[in-house]
Amino acid sequence: MINVKAIVYDRYGSPDVLRNEEVETPAPGDRDVLVHVHATSVTPTDAIFRSGRVVSARMFTGPLRPRRRTLGGEISGQVVAVGKGVTKFKVGDRVFADTGSALGAHAEYVRISEDGALAIAPAGLDHRETVAVLDGMLTALPFLRDGARLREGQEILINGASGTVGAAAVQLAKHHVGARVTGVCSTAKREMVESLGADEVIDYAKADFTRGGRTYDVIFDAAGKSSFSRCRRALRPGGIYLTTTPSLTIFLRSLWTRGFGGKRAAIMFTGLRPDGDKATDLRLLAELAEAKTIRPVIDGVYPLAEAAEAHRRVDSGRKQGCVLLTTEQNGVPDPTAEGH
Ligand SMILES: NC(=O)c1ccc[n+]([C@@H]2O[C@H](COP(=O)([O-])OP(=O)(O)OC[C@H]3O[C@@H](n4cnc5c(N)ncnc54)[C@H](OP(=O)(O)O)[C@@H]3O)[C@@H](O)[C@H]2O)c1
Repeated sequence: MINVKAIVYDRYGSPDVLRNEEVETPAPGDRDVLVHVHATSVTPTDAIFRSGRVVSARMFTGPLRPRRRTLGGEISGQVVAVGKGVTKFKVGDRVFADTGSALGAHAEYVRISEDGALAIAPAGLDHRETVAVLDGMLTALPFLRDGARLREGQEILINGASGTVGAAAVQLAKHHVGARVTGVCSTAKREMVESLGADEVIDYAKADFTRGGRTYDVIFDAAGKSSFSRCRRALRPGGIYLTTTPSLTIFLRSLWTRGFGGKRAAIMFTGLRPDGDKATDLRLLAELAEAKTIRPVIDGVYPLAEAAEAHRRVDSGRKQGCVLLTTEQNGVPDPTAEGH
């Protein structure tokens, strides 16, 4: 087995703990495919796992030091080998995937079960665009569909509309569901949020949406910067507040408000969904991307070896859409990839 590159870490800390290391190419098991990763995302979850600053997350990553040495969950790439029992994919397929709790995506090669969260990549998009229609969308889709049960004609406010999850939610709510969308972001990102399809944009530096007198069927706090108690007055009767960010308060509020028919609060953990459900959603996202119902929003692309820089950008909390890593030579797109 030849040695390939991966980004590894052995202790929690700043982006400086990340190292570029040569590792063995993973060998696919009978039902696995081996994917040559062209692009992968760096998310706030990767940053939390790297820093170890969220104590509850250490239950998953390891109490004292990380158990899994390579971070990353979302990839776009090409199948280069398949196990002898694989029937759904073949060598040469362009695929996109979520490696889930196995992580390991910040590497040149990733092994994933053919029954995992894996699907054929959308036609017409290059690998960076492909991973960027996965990042955020695979979170926003279940929040809007399963959590909020958002319907055509309803009004939704999305707080943090310029981040990865928020930008995905604006597009899905507007163009896939047909809801009326209000996005909340800073002054500099107003135009970008409008371009994604928001009917209205509120600049949080100039106005507090919870005190404007407007009410909504759904408030989706994609950035996790508000709270149910503040947003409650901006909800219509029977409306729901959803947040991406866990806290003891939101757990208690979601228990208290469940089943009473009044205003509700909810948190979801979309990463913990079964692989089969994620794979179904990947196929839907591919369809939506091919139909240009949704489009990628990319903040920046860094060569794999510069993963620490990418983490610094994510740590800033100001990214606009997705931060990506690429294994394509010196960050230059692969000329054989679709879309180039
Ligand atoms: N529960 C789950 O299943 C789940 C899944 C995935 C992610 N998450 C979590 O979801 C959160 C969002 O992820 P992401 O990738 O979208 O993050 P992100 O891209 O880093 O979000 C950053 C955005 O937040 C905005 N923001 C910062 N302060 C704000 C404020 N006070 N009010 C409104 N917007 C503000 C920033 O916009 P401005 O520069 O315009 O302020 C920036 O564009 C993260 O905490 C992540 O850990 C949860």
